[in-house]
Amino acid sequence: VLLPVVMAGGSGTRLWPLSRALYPKQFLAIHGSRTLFQQAVERLMTLAGAEHELVGPCIVGNEEHRFLTLDQLREMRAQPSAVLLEPLGRNTAPALTLAALFARDELKDAEDPVLVVTPADQTVTDVGAFTQALRQAVQGAMDGHIVILGVRPDRPDTGFGYIRAAGDGALRAVEAFVEKPDLPTAERYCAEGGYYWNGGMFVLRASVWLRALRHFRPDILEATEAAWAPRRADNGFLRPDKEAFARVPSESIDYAVMEKCPADPRAGFSLRMVPLDAGWSDLGAWEAVWQVSPKDENGNVAHGDAVIEGSRNTLVHATSRLVSAVGLDNVVIVETPDAVLVADRNRSQDVKRIVGQLEQRA
Ligand code: GDD
Ligand code: MG
Repeated sequence: VLLPVVMAGGSGTRLWPLSRALYPKQFLAIHGSRTLFQQAVERLMTLAGAEHELVGPCIVGNEEHRFLTLDQLREMRAQPSAVLLEPLGRNTAPALTLAALFARDELKDAEDPVLVVTPADQTVTDVGAFTQALRQAVQGAMDGHIVILGVRPDRPDTGFGYIRAAGDGALRAVEAFVEKPDLPTAERYCAEGGYYWNGGMFVLRASVWLRALRHFRPDILEATEAAWAPRRADNGFLRPDKEAFARVPSESIDYAVMEKCPADPRAGFSLRMVPLDAGWSDLGAWEAVWQVSPKDENGNVAHGDAVIEGSRNTLVHATSRLVSAVGLDNVVIVETPDAVLVADRNRSQDVKRIVGQLEQRA
């Protein structure tokens, strides 16, 4: 049995002011008519086929977004296996652990399902190629490997994990995994070649995740298990215990397990990579939105009612007014009814610091 898992509990602060605490980016249709979350669900459901039984997606999200999640699933007529609701974000390692515990305890007639885990903040242009790569990853996961999808880098972006993989087959051994290196390191990886970005998708058996976490981060496993008290409530939502979940350490899958697997081969967890060449893009920050958007001959992007003159490589995203720009280079302007962002395009990772300042003010 294959269980698609969509991690949708992030706050998307780097896409502020479009992305807000109560309406984060994964629930917005930044690109196309479906939201990023809906696209993620749709992409996973393309795995349906004769070979394996594919059950409905397991969504792991935040309590505050439960009705957004439900509405967007309904709109696309998707039947989830479960909607797991976290009272507060503890990053992706605990989120995946909740899904694995659900697979272990609540998924009837499924013996050790393969979890096909994906973020909810990406776009893919070639869904056929995506599905094919994912099928190969599923094959590897059936054999007990932890499989990640690797994307060929085209810039030294520090917002990604970097993978060095061996060989040239469909399923390659991972020699090193470095999560979010600093800029000089990312530049070195890009210059050296042979490195891939971690696409943020993980394919592995539920039992393999739980064993790997028990080995590398028993504290996270124990704390999450202590919070795991599933009682189906309104609308089929499942919730961990609030107080207990607040005590779970906050950590990402990448730091908690992925970096450590190749570094500690004696632990016995084998990390494999399937190359993904499918027009993948993570809409993490405004820089990435600019990258994937159609541009005029000067590299400018106009979203909404925007007029750009004598400028280069500039993004103007207008939602409620006419916004105009003259003589700008590499600038991002994002206008919403109650907040406007003007930023250096090359500093778009730092937009999250604005959100940090606003949180302190509140
Ligand atoms: N349920 C839940 N709970 N989901 C979460 C939480 C949480 O606390 N935090 C984040 N997520 C979701 C986000 O909504 C997103 O869909 C996904 O998990 C990944 O989280 P991000 O915060 O977007 O991670 P990232 O982009 O910085 O890094 C990850 O993805 C990159 C590729 O896009 C890493 O896996 C990198 O190694 C990878 O390169
Ligand atoms: Mg992301």
